[in-house]
Amino acid sequence: MKARFALVLPLLLTMISAQIAHWGGCPDPPVQPKFNLQKYLGKWYEIAKLPAQFEKGQCIEANYSIRDDGSIKVFNSEILKGEFRTIEGTAVVQDLKEPAKMGITFSYLIPYTPYWVLSTDYEQSAVVYSCTDIVSLFHVDFAWILGRTRSLPADTVLRAKDLFTNNNIDVSKMILTHQQGCDVDSRL
Ligand SMILES: *[C@@H]1O[C@H](CO)[C@@H](O)[C@H](O)[C@H]1NC(C)=O
Repeated sequence: MKARFALVLPLLLTMISAQIAHWGGCPDPPVQPKFNLQKYLGKWYEIAKLPAQFEKGQCIEANYSIRDDGSIKVFNSEILKGEFRTIEGTAVVQDLKEPAKMGITFSYLIPYTPYWVLSTDYEQSAVVYSCTDIVSLFHVDFAWILGRTRSLPADTVLRAKDLFTNNNIDVSKMILTHQQGCDVDSRL
């Protein structure tokens, strides 16, 4: 048992070292009460995030909509090295009693990862968190501040960061997403 664990551990460490890893299990922050998916749909701009390896682009946006079959379509776009790139995924509400806790995936090969809306006013900003336990020893997490516009007032960003921090989520490494010059260059 011990030997196998010793083999697995370095592999896990390599896998997650690129991301933000913390000791212990995931925090369990409260989410948006009475979450209204209909009001949440539409376009959101990424204002800030905890750095994620797979998100290096600029002008990052997401558009959530309902498909004809009732599933939630996630359409993300970004400009990476001057190239406009898009990816389509699917989100689900896993427990109707807690609709703010969604799962999201960008490939049927990959299991749903959490997408929790901690707070949103639907019209200006949203605070989103995703955390996954790794063999209950660590967790890796992602955090986003989203806006209905490409920039948000500084105090809104500050309040969003406080919300994370007050729930034991370390956002000291959070970075602002480049959202300058996007519309001039927009291919949408
Ligand atoms: C979002 O996606 C829906 C469905 O594909 C589309 O009808 C809508 O125009 C998009 N909204 C924006 C703002 O791009």
